[in-house]
Formats: sequence, structure tokens, C-alpha cells
Amino acid sequence: MRELERLAAERARAAVRYDRIGLKSEAAKSYREAIELLEKLIELTEDPMMRRIYEEKRRQYTRRIEALNEGVFEGGSSRASAAEAAQEFVVEKPPPVKWDDVIGLEKAKKAIMEGIIYPMRRPNLFPLGWPRGILLFGPPGCGKTMLAAAVANEIDAVFMHVDASLVMSKWLGESEKNVSTIFRTARGYEASGKPVIIFIDEVDSFAAIRVNEVGGEARARNQLIKEMDGLLDKGRLSTIYVLAATNKPWLLDEPFIRRFQKRIFIDLPDYETRLKLFAHYAGKLNLDDDVEFAELARITNGYSAADIYTICMEVQTKIVSEFFETRGEGDAPRKIRMEDFLEVVRRRKPSIDLESVRKMLEWNEKFGAY
Ligand SMILES: Nc1ncnc2c1ncn2[C@@H]1O[C@H](COP(=O)(O)OP(=O)(O)OP(=O)(O)O)[C@@H](O)[C@H]1O
Ligand SMILES: [Mg+2]
Repeated sequence: MRELERLAAERARAAVRYDRIGLKSEAAKSYREAIELLEKLIELTEDPMMRRIYEEKRRQYTRRIEALNEGVFEGGSSRASAAEAAQEFVVEKPPPVKWDDVIGLEKAKKAIMEGIIYPMRRPNLFPLGWPRGILLFGPPGCGKTMLAAAVANEIDAVFMHVDASLVMSKWLGESEKNVSTIFRTARGYEASGKPVIIFIDEVDSFAAIRVNEVGGEARARNQLIKEMDGLLDKGRLSTIYVLAATNKPWLLDEPFIRRFQKRIFIDLPDYETRLKLFAHYAGKLNLDDDVEFAELARITNGYSAADIYTICMEVQTKIVSEFFETRGEGDAPRKIRMEDFLEVVRRRKPSIDLESVRKMLEWNEKFGAY
């Protein structure tokens, strides 16, 4: 396996070298050889994550061969397209989430207040500086993305939403350039006087490739580390923040972890929070008197905030479709009863894998830092 992987990487690197200098047919040939080796690896590997990586690579090289056949070549064109590339995986406007829309997560909010919002408002009160990197980790659907967007809105920052897996799946050897383009763009915004939040979603895809040198994306990871160090070096005044999110924190290695001075667990909602979530989302619906949020919160232990949102939405959908099916009976959908909620909860199991939550709790014990 190791040998196969080494060969695949070697073929892929050769392909990129040819590609860069415009030797199309040599490049295509090397890509094809790399693909053949990847196919063997796909067959042999038992690790589903590695298989995904190999398959992704195979897909990329296949597309590249197609592009080569159509006469597109890497040399020259790549430089001009760097800015475009950054556009492609970066969204520069935060979704309109307000701080108060994020329910629960009091500890996380406090840490972010102290780490970003207060320093932003009164930098002179922070002579020792402030953190530049904050990691949010936790199960899916509990508010990581939401929180990042809310912070950006709160301090009126430019929000660069970077999908790490997309950055990594660009052409081989381009990932490193993509990373520096993102930070260069951020410095541009900063120079125009706006704070910048670089939100790196699925940041574990940067760290995970350390084990897999196919194409040498380890350089992208090192580039990210370098850029983050750069933020700290630039004196105390930089207003670029890196917020990163992951639900596989255990894939991050020590140098990576160290660059995030705050590491905040975005946990599943507890009873009180679930109560607030129901009040928030179901509160907007037309409810009968027998609906009891306390009971709903009690039976949804293990559900994520997104699950609870979905339950409320489904209940409303149920009532509305009933209304359409029995058209003629009244002119508005009936009120929602407790039984409607119970029925939806019964058929919707939590989307969360408890085993991975347990792993996260363990990681939090070891590396959590507020
Ligand atoms: N704390 C919260 N308060 C209110 N709504 C929430 C909260 N967390 C999640 N939601 C609801 O769930 C949706 C998904 O949340 P979000 O995208 O922030 O999850 P995430 O933690 O980033 O998940 P993933 O790991 O899958 O990216 C939100 O758009 C919102 O409707
Ligand atoms: Mg998210």
C-alpha cells in the first residue's frame, strides 16, 4: 500500500510538472498512470476516509485529462485565475444571522465576546493583544456556522466563508496558492479599514492530508500555519480573525491545535437550551393550548438544534398538507396539537452519532480552551 501510494504521488507530481510547462500529452499520460495506481489503492484500502480521498483525486485527474484534451493548460493561466479561484470558494457576505438568533451556547458566546468583540470595540484595552485563531468544534447542526456568521455581523466584518474541502480538492499543487490568495484577499479588506473573519469550515480536511502525500497538499496545510503565524507577527493591530469549524477535532495535530488559542466546544443543546429552541421555533406557529415545550425538551435529549428546528418545520408542514388535502374544511390550517409534535418526534431519530459526541467530549477534556 505504502509503495503504491508513493508511486501514485510520484506520477501525480510528474503530471503537474508537465502540466505547468504545457507538455500536454506527457501530462495526460502521467495523470493516467496516477489514476491507474489510485484505482488499485481504492480497491485495496479498507479505510473509508482514505478511499474518499483517492476517489476524489481520481475524479480530479480524470477531469484534468479531459480539460487537457480540450486544450486548456495550466501554465500561465493559473496565475491569472488565482483571484477568481478565491472567489469560487469564498462568500464575502455573512448570512443575516444576529447574535440573539443563536440560542444557548452561553460559554461559547462569552469566549467570543472576550476574544473578538471587545478587542474590536476597544483595542487599546488589550495591550497584550488578542487571539487570532478560534476553533469551534462539535456535532453537526449545533450552531458553529451560525455563530461565526453572527460574530461577523456583530462587528460588521467582511465574512470570508472558506470551504476547506473545496480548497483542497482544487488542482493538485494549487491548494497552497489558494490558501495564500485567501489571506492576501483578507489583508486587502483589512487595509480598507474593515475587520475580516476568515471562516474555515471543515478545517480537518487541511490536517487530515498530512497522512496522505498524494500531490503534496501538505504544503497547503503548512501554508495555512504560516499565514496564521503571520497574523500574530503583524503587531497587535491586525483585525483579521481565523474562525475554524470541525466535527472531527481529533484529526488535528498539535501544531495545528496550537494556532487556535481558543478551542470551544459547541455541544448538543441541554434541556434548558432545547426548551428555548422550541419556544423560539415553535413559538412562531399557531399552537393549541396542550402543547408543552417542557415535555418536548425532555424527550429530545440527544437531538441537535438543527433537529429541533426540523421537527418544528415538519409539524407545520404536516398541518398545512392536511389542510390542502381536506380543502373546504375552514379557511386556515387547524392549530397544532401536542400529538402532532409527538408523532413527528417519534419518526425522526436524532441525526447525531453519540459515539462521535463522546469522542468530542474526550477531546474537549484534553484540548478545550475558553
Ligand atoms: N444554537 C442554535 N440556535 C438556533 N438555531 C440553531 C442553533 N444551532 C443550529 N441551529 C439551526 O440549525 C441550522 C444549522 O446550524 P449550523 O449550520 O450553525 O450548524 P453547524 O454546527 O455549523 O453544523 P455542521 O457541523 O453540519 O456544519 C441553523 O441554520 C439553525 O436553523
Ligand atoms: Mg457548519
